[in-house]
Amino acid sequence: EHNEIILAIETSCDETAAAVVQGGTELLSNVVATQMDIHQKFGGVVPEVASRHHIEQMTAVLEQAMDEADVTFDDIDAVAVTQGPGLVGALLVGVNAAKAVAYAHDLPLIGVHHIAGHIYANRLQQPFEFPLLSLVVSGGHTELIYMNEHGDYQLIGETRDDAAGEAYDKVAKALELPYPGGPQIDQLAQSGEDTYQFPRSYLEEGSYDFSFSGLKTAVINKLHQKRQKNEPIDRENVAASFQASVIDVLVNKTYQAALEHNVKQLIVAGGVSANQSLRARLQEKFEGSGIELYIPPLYLCTDNAAMIGAAASIQYHQGDFAGLDLNANPGLMM
Ligand code: KG4
Ligand code: ZN
Repeated sequence: EHNEIILAIETSCDETAAAVVQGGTELLSNVVATQMDIHQKFGGVVPEVASRHHIEQMTAVLEQAMDEADVTFDDIDAVAVTQGPGLVGALLVGVNAAKAVAYAHDLPLIGVHHIAGHIYANRLQQPFEFPLLSLVVSGGHTELIYMNEHGDYQLIGETRDDAAGEAYDKVAKALELPYPGGPQIDQLAQSGEDTYQFPRSYLEEGSYDFSFSGLKTAVINKLHQKRQKNEPIDRENVAASFQASVIDVLVNKTYQAALEHNVKQLIVAGGVSANQSLRARLQEKFEGSGIELYIPPLYLCTDNAAMIGAAASIQYHQGDFAGLDLNANPGLMM
């Protein structure tokens, strides 16, 4: 039976999300209650505040996901939840909600890796063809993951310091832009140019690892210098220059890795894949390469529960279920 219906929950950071997904590919509902405006006041996600809001929102979000999918618990075949990585207090709210639902309705429980979710968001759009390469770029991750088959994740490159989204957020803070900084820099960069030529860190020849902290420091030092000399700060050009460095490295390394591993598809995942310039540059680079490029629509790029349901479908068919002792794991490995 490939038409199982999964109720999925995601609370790893600052979105309280629930979704109903059929057969791993069909979205029946997808509800996301964001806490963005609350955390904006603090310039970042405050873990305790996030947990409290997850608790306040969870029941209503679950009910809405069930309503919009027009299903009852009799229709549901399994309950899936993000087990990690993420903020432990935030994860715990989702894990406990999933356990309560699984116990109350006697349903199997599935613990899902958040990054597997980001990758599988793409499968709600088109079938996977293996081997494939996935570029995962979010607030906590910058990874190149090679997949030979469903559920098989081989890490071939990762960041050695800051994640791409983290660098965006820190540079945005230095530019005194509101949280989260990624979309703000993306917007500003559209009307700027790469006038600063900040460093591009490629690391050793042949390495698919990333490093963004040197770039971040270069931007912050430049801003500091300008403030000391009372020079005006051309935020558009700073944003465009920073972004050009990040994207050059991301696009070139991803392209090299895709060629070397002879993949059929490149799929992009994580919050930073919302970036307009990254999307455009990847499209240019992969055009005519014979490798199909897929980037999910914006609502599937950032955190959501639909992606968790999509990833859980593979585990469902592999019989990879969790017991009611499932625990949140903030540092869960892939
Ligand atoms: O995947 P995500 O929603 O949360 C996790 O980190 O798991 O990613 C959030 C990250 C933040 O760092 C945010 O600034 C970044 O994605 N982001 C962007 C854009 N939209 C979100 N970065 C660059 N350009 C964007 N348009
Ligand atoms: Zn995420």
